[in-house]
This record gives sequence, C-alpha cells and structure tokens, in this order.
Amino acid sequence: MEMTLVNQALTDVACDVLIVGMIQAEKGQESSELARFPFAQELDQALDGLIASMYAHGEFKGKVGETAQIYSMGRLAARQVIVVGLGSAEKLQGHTLRRAAGTAARLARSRGARQVALALDTSSAEGLQAVVEGTLLGVYRFQKYLTQQNTTRNIERLQFLSKSAEESGMQEALQRGIIMAEATNFARDLVNEQPAVLTPSELARRASEMAQQTGLECTILERSQMEELGMGGLLAVAKGSAEPPKCIILRYRGAPESEQAVALVGKGITFDSGGLSLKTAEGMQSMKGDMAGGAAVLGAMRIIASLQPAINVLALVPASENMPDGASYHPGDILRLMNGKTIEIVNTDAEGRLALADALSYAVKEGCSPIIDIATLTGGCHVALGGRRAGLFCNNDRLSSELMAAGESTGERFWPMPLDEEYLENIESQVADMRQTGGKYGGAINAAKVLEHFIGDADWAHLDIAGLEFVESKYHFLQNGATGFGTRALAEFVLRRAEQ
Ligand code: BES
Ligand code: MN
Ligand code: ZN
Repeated sequence: MEMTLVNQALTDVACDVLIVGMIQAEKGQESSELARFPFAQELDQALDGLIASMYAHGEFKGKVGETAQIYSMGRLAARQVIVVGLGSAEKLQGHTLRRAAGTAARLARSRGARQVALALDTSSAEGLQAVVEGTLLGVYRFQKYLTQQNTTRNIERLQFLSKSAEESGMQEALQRGIIMAEATNFARDLVNEQPAVLTPSELARRASEMAQQTGLECTILERSQMEELGMGGLLAVAKGSAEPPKCIILRYRGAPESEQAVALVGKGITFDSGGLSLKTAEGMQSMKGDMAGGAAVLGAMRIIASLQPAINVLALVPASENMPDGASYHPGDILRLMNGKTIEIVNTDAEGRLALADALSYAVKEGCSPIIDIATLTGGCHVALGGRRAGLFCNNDRLSSELMAAGESTGERFWPMPLDEEYLENIESQVADMRQTGGKYGGAINAAKVLEHFIGDADWAHLDIAGLEFVESKYHFLQNGATGFGTRALAEFVLRRAEQ
C-alpha cells in the first residue's frame, strides 16, 4: 500500500473516496463549528453549503465515528466523500481520531474504494500519527485461511491531507504511525493464528525471524536450559503438552551497558485448556489468545527496534501449552520456582502466574528495573473492568502514572488495582511458601500477589489484559478478532522513558 502525506486543496485531491472529519455541532452552532475545522468548511463551500444544511437538518451531528456518504457531483476531484464525526472539539484527542479514521477507512473499502484520501487531522504531528494508526488498524484483516480472499476490495493508495504537511516532524509522524500500526497488526496475526500452528516453537520462530529483520538479539531457552535455571513453574505447565516449551528472550541495546534495562515480560501460553483442571468447552473457546501478552511484548519490541530509543530493553516471553495428559502437573503438587520459592498447586488452570514467575525471576537476575509484565491472567479482571480497560497493579507511583499516561495516549487504557498486604492472607499455604490461588474473591489481585513474590527489589507493574485480547464484534475501529492490545502502550512507555 502506498502512503503519502500531502498538502492539497480539498477539491483537488484525486481519489475514489475522500474522508473528511467533522466536529460535533450543537443546535444553532453549526456554522461556527464548521469554521473551526478548515477541511469541513472547504468541503461545505465546494458543495454549496450542503454540509451546513446537513447539520442544520440534524442529518449529521458529528458524533465520534458517525458517518455519511456524499456524492461529489463533479465538484471535487474525489468521486465520493465520506464525512466522519470527530465528536466535540474540546474532547478531540488521539483516541477519537483513531476511531474516526478506522471506521471511515473501513467503510470506504467496503464501498470498493482503492484510492482513499483522509482529511481529519488538525495539523499536529500527534493528530496525524493517530489518523495513520487508526486507518491501518481499521483496515487490518486476518484472511490467511479464507479460500476466497477478499482481494477485489483492497485499498491500494492512502493519502493523508495536512495543512502543515511540509512542516518538520510531519513525515516522522507518518512513519511513526505506520510503524506503530504494523507492529500492532503483527501482534494481531500472532493472536489470530490457530493454536495447532502457533505452538511455542512457532511463536519462537516468528519472534526470532522478527528479531533478525529488525536487528534485535534473540535467544531461545530450551527445556534443558530451563532445567539448569530451575524454572520449575514454566516446566510444570509444559509437562502435559506434546509441544516443548520455549522461553523467548529478546534484547535491545540503545544505551551503555551500565544502564539498567527495562524488562517487558509477556505471558505466552499458546493454548490454555486448563490442564487437568480442565476448562469447559465454552471457557476454552478463545484460549488460543492466551499468548496475547507475549504478542504485545513482541510487537512493542518491533517498534522499539525500528525507532531506536536511547534505552536498554530486555523482553521475555515464557511460552508453553497447558494440556491435560498422564504426564500433566497436578493440583497438590508443590513446585520450586526459579528464585527458590515454593508454591502449592491448587488449580492447574492458574498456569499463567507460574510461567510468568520464572520469567520475572530471570529479569530480576539480569538486574532489570522497572519490570513490566502483561498477561491474559484472570477471568476476574475481565469481570471487574468489563473488557474496556486492563488492570494495572504497580508498586511504584511514578511507574504507574507513566503507564497510565502511555495507555491514555495510545487508546489502550488501564485502571489501577490494589496490592494491599491483607490480600497475602488469601494465598497462605500450610505446605509451601504460598498457595497458587486465593479462593473465590479477588482473583485478579490474588494472582498479582503471587507474582509479587518474584520481583525482588525491582519497580514493577503487572497488566492483566484478560478479555481485551479479542473483540467479538466491530468495536470502535477494530475488526472482530485480535486487538493487539498493549503493543503500542508498552512501546510508548519505553519511548517516553528514553526521553527522560
Ligand atoms: N487464561 C486464563 C484467564 C483468562 C480468562 C483469559 C478469560 C482470558 C479470558 C487463565 O489462565 C485462567 O484460567 N485463570 C483462571 C484462574 C483461576 C483458576 C484461579 C481464572 O481466571 O478463572
Ligand atoms: Mn488457565
Ligand atoms: Zn491462561
């Protein structure tokens, strides 16, 4: 797909569909709202006041993602126009621009447009980046297994209109938007892939291929090396699987060796059947996505490798299947994990914390801080936050606010969750240093309290993204399927840290 940044009069842009963003207008305020948004005003003039009259008749209000199709009747070089709502001018931000761009670009494609131009951004670099991201995320599809791929409806050319196209930083914003979106789509491909194909070995292969292409260092720990390191958690989870576990390690060096590295740790369970504590058929349905945290970490590393921030980053993805078998680990087993601590197994379906615990210990041993892990860890977190925000557990206020801000800016939002001492009582064990699970209530918090035993003295954040890895229907600008949630927020956090 060809993508360019252009500064052209709205009437002169040759394309199949021209997408124009419009601010929400209150009754009686239509003309002043039009004036606040130069592209909309230009369009209104070219079409003899059509836009103003649509507003006046209440046919278009400019709500976020609202669309209307207009024929250009030869008054524009564009064949068709799609106007898309951007919501109220006061609340205009990256998140709304992404939604509007993605929604409109998808509609344009469904109309058979091959050449699409977008006039949405308010001329800032951030706005442009958001529009580029929203467009590319919106038109993503996973078509690998369709025998009749939808090739008749494909966008071939995208033009992004900006009044300040020639100003400094704008080309960079276009590139940055492309890099961010493509890495998110890379993560989405991993999550959408079927579990028979995306085994731990295949995940490791795709990670090392990506590392080779982007210049990251890549090491894959095999079972024997995990045994030497004492990774009793990851190894126990893998016992029931015919597929060998892999621990994917990527390294990015952007600062002197002496500088402490940030660690990104992502859960990489390529299929979670629950193991002997088997899930129901319904509960298992979406469990190919149990490596979505790992995919987000790999996607973030791809962005980091492309944008080259001045910081060191260590990425870890402990990868395994969780399967029932005669060789599976059992409820009642007592495991010794990499940092020497023991844990009493209660439910083999609480496998994620075991795999993560060993990877966290590895990051601690490497001297990393902060350590950020991301995982589809508990159904409880999905219930608590409703699948719109991810849970953020953190032992450091500065880290917490940096992550909140990064997530807010990329539209992958978090919400703070507690780590109070009292919750430790839930995971007390008579026979080991801790119990793996903590009973009926506060499942997401109990899981976080288990992880807390493995972070040493590091600053640490745990992101529970259960329920955010897939969307069921078309949510915002996302096609149904994998979201890539966390990819851009993790990268954004690292990029901002490097600037400090
Ligand atoms: N992978 C699941 C959590 C999950 C649930 C992710 C729904 C996405 C959607 C995790 O391994 C799990 O099974 N957690 C259990 C833990 C319980 C047994 C303590 C859960 O949350 O039910
Ligand atoms: Mn599980
Ligand atoms: Zn799981």
